[in-house]
Amino acid sequence: MPTSYLIPCHVAIVMDGNGRWARKRFMPRFFGHKHGVETLVRTVLACADRGIQYLTVFAFSSENWRRPQDEVSGLMNLVLMAVSKYLGRLETQGVRIHIVGDRSQVSQRVREAWHEAESSTQHNTRIHLSVAFNYGGRWDVVQACQQAMRAGIEADQLDEAALNRYMAMSHVPDPDLFIRTGGEERVSNFLLWQIAYSELYFSDCLWPEFDDAQLDAALAAYASRERRYGALKQEEPPAALLPQVGS
Ligand code: FPP
Repeated sequence: MPTSYLIPCHVAIVMDGNGRWARKRFMPRFFGHKHGVETLVRTVLACADRGIQYLTVFAFSSENWRRPQDEVSGLMNLVLMAVSKYLGRLETQGVRIHIVGDRSQVSQRVREAWHEAESSTQHNTRIHLSVAFNYGGRWDVVQACQQAMRAGIEADQLDEAALNRYMAMSHVPDPDLFIRTGGEERVSNFLLWQIAYSELYFSDCLWPEFDDAQLDAALAAYASRERRYGALKQEEPPAALLPQVGS
């Protein structure tokens, strides 16, 4: 499907609801996360089919370390399982993978899996999938400031564009559409800097149930929005901005 101005260039998703989906089936939370990975792979390909060029997903937040130890280690193992099971398919489907977040706290094995995912897809261009892992929006702002200071940027040289160059998401444009599944209506420290003008869409659907129909409902809602970036509605210019007759 060709890209149209009604299709967002960049979609960001908070994939919430895995735990509740598993609990409804009397299964452990890990079962939900495992199905969450399958939903993620399906969603990446569905987005690519619709002409979306960038997809960014929140897979593990800086705060998720506070979850029970077995859930944290389950999510780390899921990275290894996901890379070995799905990387070949994503690679042949033209998906380029980027990992964003603080890698210093994750194990060597997880770092190696991320490296493999990034390097084996580095020539792909159909869709860019950024996986936020050990990521937090506030962490990103702080680490960008630290990098700018280490680079010797003077305070009066530091504007939005300069800081943006040091952000972990500097390889992609800002999201047009921000989706959160799972019924909660909050941002939860995801992409704080980048969603300044994103359209927000909240769905009650639990992430493992997110399918083509759910994606299309979010895209239809996006297409119906009027984006103004802080400017005035075109059909209602204030009198002061109208051409003055006779002047
Ligand atoms: C939130 O659901 C989801 C997460 C914390 C993890 C999301 C991760 C995935 C979908 C897997 C992606 C993994 C890789 C390896 C790319 P929740 O557990 O908070 O659900 P709940 O709100 O129902 O408890």
